[in-house]
Amino acid sequence: MTAPHSTPASAAPRVNPLQRLWLRELGMERLWLRPAPPAVAAPAPQVPVLKQDFSTPPAAAAPVPDAVPAPTDTLRPAGPGLRNGPPPKPAPKAEAAVEAAPAPMPVAMAVKHANLDELREQVVACTACGLCGGRRHAVFGHGGQPTRWLVVGEAPGEQEDRQGQPFVGRSGQLLDAMLSAVGMSRERDVFIANVIKCRPPGNRNPKPEEIAACSPYLMRQIALLKPERILVLGRFAAQTLLGTDATIGSLRGRVHQMKTDEGREIPVIVSYHPAYLLRSPAEKARAWQDLKLAARV
Ligand code: URA
Repeated sequence: MTAPHSTPASAAPRVNPLQRLWLRELGMERLWLRPAPPAVAAPAPQVPVLKQDFSTPPAAAAPVPDAVPAPTDTLRPAGPGLRNGPPPKPAPKAEAAVEAAPAPMPVAMAVKHANLDELREQVVACTACGLCGGRRHAVFGHGGQPTRWLVVGEAPGEQEDRQGQPFVGRSGQLLDAMLSAVGMSRERDVFIANVIKCRPPGNRNPKPEEIAACSPYLMRQIALLKPERILVLGRFAAQTLLGTDATIGSLRGRVHQMKTDEGREIPVIVSYHPAYLLRSPAEKARAWQDLKLAARV
C-alpha cells in the first residue's frame, strides 16, 4: 500500500494524504488548507528555533522471546505560531505598518526544511497538542545513521518519558532482543521513533488529533533518515503510516510500500507491538516471521 502525497492547492500548505485525512476527520480541512491571510504589520513574535521562511520461530522455535527477561513483564517554540488548529485571524492593521509579521506556521510547514537537529529542537519545544502539559521529556527518537531500519512504535511510556529515549522499558528490552535475533543493533543499524513524541497520560491510546498534530515530525524523520525499510509496531503506527484503519492481523505478513514526498518508495513491514507480545507471548512466533520478512526484503 502506498501513502502517496498529493499536491495541494496553490497557496495552501503542502499536506500529504495522511495529514489531509486527519484534518478532514477533525473538520479542519477547509480551514487548514485555505490560503494564508495576507500578512500585515504586527509585532514580530519570538520564534527562536524555526526558520522564518517557512518548513515474533517459528511456530516451532522462535529466538525472539527467550532472549528477553521473562515477562514478569509546531512546532511552536513557546510562541503562538505553530499550534495545530485553524489559521489565526489576520492581525489588526498597525497604524504605521512598516514590516509584515511572519504568518503563523502549522507543524507540517515548520518541519519542512528542518535538519535532524533542528527537528529535534522543534519536537522538544512543541506545544501542538495537550500532551506537552504532562510530559517530562518529549521523545524524539534515537539510533544509527545511515539508517537501515526505521522502527516506529506508538508513544513513549513512563520510562521513555523519564529518560527521553524510545523503548527503554520492558517493551524496549524485548524489542532489542527481537532486533538482535536478526542481527540488527539499536545503536548501529536502527533508528527507533514513535508516532507520538509525548507520553499520553496513563499510557492511554493516542487521540486522532494528537496523531494528526505529531505525525509531521515522523514524516520529516522519514524524509531525513531515508531508511532502507520501516518496521511498524502496533496498530497506531501501522494505521498512521499506511493511512488505513485495517487491523494488524490483516496488514502483517506482506510488504507494503510508502511513498515519500520526494517520490521515494520505502518498504514497510507491519508487526505486533512488543507490549502486546509481552501480554500474548504465543504471538511471538508470528512476530518472528515478520522480522524475517523485514530482513529479507
Ligand atoms: N512503547 C512505544 O510504542 N514506544 C516507546 O518508545 C515505548 C513503549
